Amino acid sequence: MTPRLELRHICKSFAGRQVVDDLSLSVAPGQVTCLLGPSGCGKSTTLRILAGVERQDSGEIYVDGEIICGPLTETAPEHRSIGLMFQDFALFPHLDVAGNVGFGLPKNEMSRVGELLEKVGLSGFEGKYPHELSGGEQQRVALARALAPRPKIMLMDEPFSGLDDRLRDGIRDETLSVLKDEGTAVLLVTHEPHEAMRMADEIALMRAGRIVQQGNPYNIYNAPVDKQAAAFFSDINVIRGQSNGALTETPFGQFLTPGHADGAAVEIVIRPQHLKIDFDRSGQGPNPTPSDGTPARALVERARFMGRESLVELRMDFDGSVLKATVPAVFLPKPGTVLWLTMRRDRCFVFGTPPAQAAAE
Ligand SMILES: Nc1ncnc2c1ncn2[C@@H]1O[C@H](COP(=O)(O)OP(=O)(O)OP(=O)(O)O)[C@@H](O)[C@H]1O
Ligand SMILES: [Mg+2]
Repeated sequence: MTPRLELRHICKSFAGRQVVDDLSLSVAPGQVTCLLGPSGCGKSTTLRILAGVERQDSGEIYVDGEIICGPLTETAPEHRSIGLMFQDFALFPHLDVAGNVGFGLPKNEMSRVGELLEKVGLSGFEGKYPHELSGGEQQRVALARALAPRPKIMLMDEPFSGLDDRLRDGIRDETLSVLKDEGTAVLLVTHEPHEAMRMADEIALMRAGRIVQQGNPYNIYNAPVDKQAAAFFSDINVIRGQSNGALTETPFGQFLTPGHADGAAVEIVIRPQHLKIDFDRSGQGPNPTPSDGTPARALVERARFMGRESLVELRMDFDGSVLKATVPAVFLPKPGTVLWLTMRRDRCFVFGTPPAQAAAE
């Protein structure tokens, strides 16, 4: 299937600094792709290039297989069939809801206003003015307005960041269902991993202008390409060691580390919810097993109740470092409690340490 939107090898520099670096990406009709990455990695610049506000230095943009912007082509922003929804979306204050949604629509398309207001759950709001609406209602009017001209593509830049936490999840879900219903291809920018996982069919993880990993949320979360990619989605625990004969010895027992040269520094990474906690049994932890390895003894340093779970910080006997574990909230151990930790082998990620980083540590 021809992608609705395709970017090929987009590059952009500002004052000699490469902000978007050979970025390629495609989005199918009805699909939501999320550009996720830390502040300054080039997400908004990518959207601005697509919207036609900024021009790439090289690379091409295609809509339904037709080039709309490349070295020899440049379609004007208003003819790109692209809708925009940004964080600081401004409704026209002097127009009522119907006026805002219908702005710029041809007369014979005015029935679309009622149809969209119904979709976003605002039937009956036609005559209200923006200052009479809540933040969430304004957001939904902005969505209806962006969808009114039936754009093939919708670009959204942190559109929900102005909403308070409780509103946000509901509005995200509603927005998603309206966009899916309209069959629009969506490119959504966010720096919040939870927003990306909630909204996206596909996540493109960006760093310094490049896409470092792309895939569905499940794969990105469960098979990160490197330590930073793992750390972007949750706290992580890192155990360091040296590979020898495709094995690395640690206080948690041996890990298989195939593909790492003898003597190479490796990092074994595990998320807090995947550390297994066991009670002390008169000075002993659980017996070692092939899937969990050897338990390591720790003292609870601090435990915090977080509602659904407790976050437990444990000071490890073997080197005095602190590891973090999350456990069901029924469990809130007191500081000083002795516990034993095991690392489930199928939940660990093994990464090599880049030489520069290894030298600095
Ligand atoms: N018009 C411009 N002139 C010069 N530098 C710019 C311009 N626009 C963006 N930049 C720089 O390019 C880099 C990427 O900016 P961009 O707005 O794309 O980041 P972002 O990923 O959207 O970050 P955030 O999550 O903070 O919104 C930043 O370092 C920014 O300062
Ligand atoms: Mg931005």
